[in-house]
Amino acid sequence: MSELVLGPIIGGLSSNSVNLWGRTNSSARLHAWIGQQPDMSDAQLVATSPPLTAETGFAGVAPVQGLAPNTHYHYALTLTNAPPNPNQSPFPKFTTFPAENEQTSFTFAFGSCFLPKGKSSDLIFKTIDERRQRDDLRFILMLGDQIYADARKHNSIGKIATTLSDYRQVYAHVWTSPNLRHLLQNLPAFMILDDHEVDDDWTWKDYDRTQAQIPIWNRVMRALRLRPSQERTLPLERVQNALQVYWEHQGMHAPSMISPLSLDTNGQYALPPGDPGSLAYAFTFGAAAFFVLDTRTMRVKSWRGRSILGKAQWKVLEDWLLAVKDRFPVKFIISSSSLLYDLWVDLARDRWSGFPKERHRFLHFLAANDIGGVYVLAGDLHSTHAVRTDLYGPQGRSLPLWEFCSSPFRQNTNWLSSRTFRPIRSGAVKEQIPAFVLSKENFGQVRVNFEDTAAPSVHFEVYNRRGKLLAAVEG
Ligand SMILES: [Fe+2]
Repeated sequence: MSELVLGPIIGGLSSNSVNLWGRTNSSARLHAWIGQQPDMSDAQLVATSPPLTAETGFAGVAPVQGLAPNTHYHYALTLTNAPPNPNQSPFPKFTTFPAENEQTSFTFAFGSCFLPKGKSSDLIFKTIDERRQRDDLRFILMLGDQIYADARKHNSIGKIATTLSDYRQVYAHVWTSPNLRHLLQNLPAFMILDDHEVDDDWTWKDYDRTQAQIPIWNRVMRALRLRPSQERTLPLERVQNALQVYWEHQGMHAPSMISPLSLDTNGQYALPPGDPGSLAYAFTFGAAAFFVLDTRTMRVKSWRGRSILGKAQWKVLEDWLLAVKDRFPVKFIISSSSLLYDLWVDLARDRWSGFPKERHRFLHFLAANDIGGVYVLAGDLHSTHAVRTDLYGPQGRSLPLWEFCSSPFRQNTNWLSSRTFRPIRSGAVKEQIPAFVLSKENFGQVRVNFEDTAAPSVHFEVYNRRGKLLAAVEG
């Protein structure tokens, strides 16, 4: 008898559709039921997934269409076509997004980096769930390091993940954390990977993406610890395994990729030379537009040069920025790596600071095209900050650009980031003013307020795992 072992997750929510995700322990189909009564006595079967098979680790999505905007729905994800039993109420619920361009104020949560190390490691997700109910959080953005595949002491497999089944096992371990699982059943989620879904600070060695690498210090440390050779190198096949399992758990329930990566006959990312595909996607919530960058799978560090987004992703990003410029007063750029926060001490140069030309291109593009109302949301740093960057806009006007960063949900914190900030060097930047920086475990909450329609405001608050307010700023 099949069982749902992970999920459900409310993925890819929009004003009229949702992707209900689950992973089972054997072949099955997911049946999505929707109702408006809390006990689902009015439940209707609205979608069925394709068969869940071993090829996708028994993960799948029931895609639900035809929903009404801004409407509450209760739901159930079952493995048979028998309606959910009203005695199991209350059922989880979600609220669809408002119609596109409707100026509705809303609040959402975001953060990144979760390495459970013990019993109460996932307390922060209980706190987020309390805030979901209190502040009517509409969704959560999870900006990467959803798993630490290389944290062998805490990833449940006792080694660095290298095979499909290793990566799947790490997700199964992390995503059965009770408070995280409960939260994701009740709060719609949008996810993107950072480095640890594959390996620590990994990059490609060449623009054709034929060879990948991990930093020299990782190779040395793993050699000193007598780790087997497959953990000290990063062959193409391991990247493909990790990205496939990323797709199974994070990608398949997200909105469609803008330019999907091509697949080989095994259903894995083929990564052929010149493939323009990336994991980037976009979505909207009323009058706010979101672009979720893929800052990892196109990243190249070679003797011939460096790239963080890749040519093709630049094209879709710039096209998107021009398309939303006047149509959406508030735009969020989601970057797993920090874009606007540089450190005096940063050996890894694993953030946008390591790609100064591309960062300048981004800043210059915003300034030259006078694109206002842009907020960058970032993770990865294991600290939280808000920093305002004034760009040289047309006629010397200041064009403000904010970065809000939140990480980690649960991981070691980074004291260096709060003590070694330095303003970024770019001819597009007038000045940078950090509002706050704190090296503490945290999650972020963003409130987009359209009550004053002439000038929407965006508020950023940071909370610790017990729900204590750590910092707040109006952007
Ligand atoms: Fe992290």
